[in-house]
Amino acid sequence: MHRLDEETLKLEREIVNYALERVAMQPPPLDGPRSEADLAALFASNITEDGVGGHEALRRFIEGYAPATLSSDHPRFLAFVPVAPTKASILFDMVVSASCISGTSWLEAAGAIHCENEAIGWLAELAGMPPGSGGTFVSGGSLANLSGLHAARQRLKERRNFVRPDRFRILASEEAHSSIASAANMMDLELILVQSPYPGRLDRKSLESRWNQLTKDERESVIAVVATAGTTNTGLIDDLASVGSFAQDNDLWMHVDAAYGGAALNSFMRPHFDGIELADSFIVDPHKWLFAPFDAAAIIYKEPEYAQRALTQEAGYLDEINRDTAWNPSSYGYHLSRRVRGLPFWFSLATYGTRRYREAVESSLDLARATAREVERRDYLELALEPELSVVVFKRNGWPMELYQRWSMQALRDEVGFILPTTFQGSPAVRLCFVNPTTTIQDVKAILDTLAWEPRGA
Ligand SMILES: Cc1ncc(COP(=O)(O)O)c(C=O)c1O
Repeated sequence: MHRLDEETLKLEREIVNYALERVAMQPPPLDGPRSEADLAALFASNITEDGVGGHEALRRFIEGYAPATLSSDHPRFLAFVPVAPTKASILFDMVVSASCISGTSWLEAAGAIHCENEAIGWLAELAGMPPGSGGTFVSGGSLANLSGLHAARQRLKERRNFVRPDRFRILASEEAHSSIASAANMMDLELILVQSPYPGRLDRKSLESRWNQLTKDERESVIAVVATAGTTNTGLIDDLASVGSFAQDNDLWMHVDAAYGGAALNSFMRPHFDGIELADSFIVDPHKWLFAPFDAAAIIYKEPEYAQRALTQEAGYLDEINRDTAWNPSSYGYHLSRRVRGLPFWFSLATYGTRRYREAVESSLDLARATAREVERRDYLELALEPELSVVVFKRNGWPMELYQRWSMQALRDEVGFILPTTFQGSPAVRLCFVNPTTTIQDVKAILDTLAWEPRGA
C-alpha cells in the first residue's frame, strides 16, 4: 500500500486524469441526490477483506456515487452559499494533500504557516485591523465563530479575575447565522437576541434598547456583541460603525461574522463595512466567496493572546511546541491536528493577484443587481428587497411554500439549477446567492422563466 509499484503507478495516472478532467469541466454536471436504498443497490460492498482494487473503486465512484453528489461549483448552484474555487486553488489543494503537512505548530510547518499568515494578513489589512492582529484557518465559519467567542469569554474571565457570573451572555441579532446560537449552546452562554429594524440590520439603537432592559449583573456578564457583515438569508451588512461604537462605549468584545460577506471588503462595497476595524475578532470564509475549495475559514483576532490563552491545549507531549514563542495555529482555533487549509487560498491569491479577485467579486455584485432588475420586469415576481451584496430574495406571487418546494425540486431534476426557497419576513420566497463568476444573466433568466410555471393541481 505504501510502495510505488506498477499497479500503483497505473492507478495514480487514472486518479490524476480523472481529477484533471473534473477541473477542466466547464461547467461540471449539476447532478442530484439519490436515495440510500438506490445507492446501496448500485454495487456490492466496497469494503471487503481483500479490497475491490483501486481501478474498481474509482469506477464505482465515477459511475455511481459522483453523479449522486451535487457539484457546488456549478454556475446554477445558487442555494446556501455555493463555492467557486479557482483552478489554481483546486490544483494546489492536491499539492497540500500530497505534501502531508501537519499545520499544528510552527515547528512542524513554518513555511506553510508563513504563507497562510500572509493571506490572513491581507484579510486583516482589508478590514483595517491594527498591527499585531492575527489568526488562523479552521474548517468553517461555524468553528471560526466558536473560536472567536472563546477568546471573547477569556477576556471577560480575566477582567473578572475568574469570578464567574450565574451565566455568560452574548448579544446578537435575530439575523445572525445559526452557528452563533449553536456556539452559545455549546458554551452554555445565554443568547440575548436583539430585534433589528426592518429589513434586519443590527445597529446601535436596537442594541441600546435591549441593553437597557438588562440588569447590572446581566450586563457585566456579556462577553461579546456579534455583528454580521453579510447575513446568510439576505446578504445585509449590519451597521458596523454604530455597533462598534456601542461595543466600545460599553467595553464589550465585538465579533464580526463576515463568513460570506467578507470577500466584498475587496470591492466597491468596502464603505458599507466601515466600522469593521473596531472588531476584536472577525471571520471570513475563503471557501465561500474567496474562490478556495472546501474547507477554509479565517478567524482573525485584534489581540490574539486571549485566543491563545483560551484555546491552547496542555499536555506533556505538547510542551515543546507550547514553550515555543513562534506562531502555533493550534492555539488560535478549536483544533489541534490541522490541515494547512489556508494554503490553496494563499496560492490562488499569489497566482492571480488581488485585482482579479476584486473583479471576480464585483461581477457577482453586478449580477445580483442585474437580477433584481430582471425580477422587477416580470409581473409574476416581486423583489423582496434591494440586494446589498450578492443575495437576491424575491417572491413568486400567489404561491404558498409547498409550490416553491415543488418548483425547486423540479428545477433540480431538470438540471435548471439548485435553488432552495427561504422565508423572508415570515413569507415564502426564492433566494439566489451568487459567488460564482461563471454564472451569467442568461443562467438567471432561464431560472426566472421557469417560475412562470403553474404546477399541475395548483
Ligand atoms: C454568515 C455566516 N456565518 C457562518 C456560516 C457558517 O459557515 P460554515 O458553513 O463554513 O460553518 C455561514 C454559512 O453559510 C454564514 O453564511
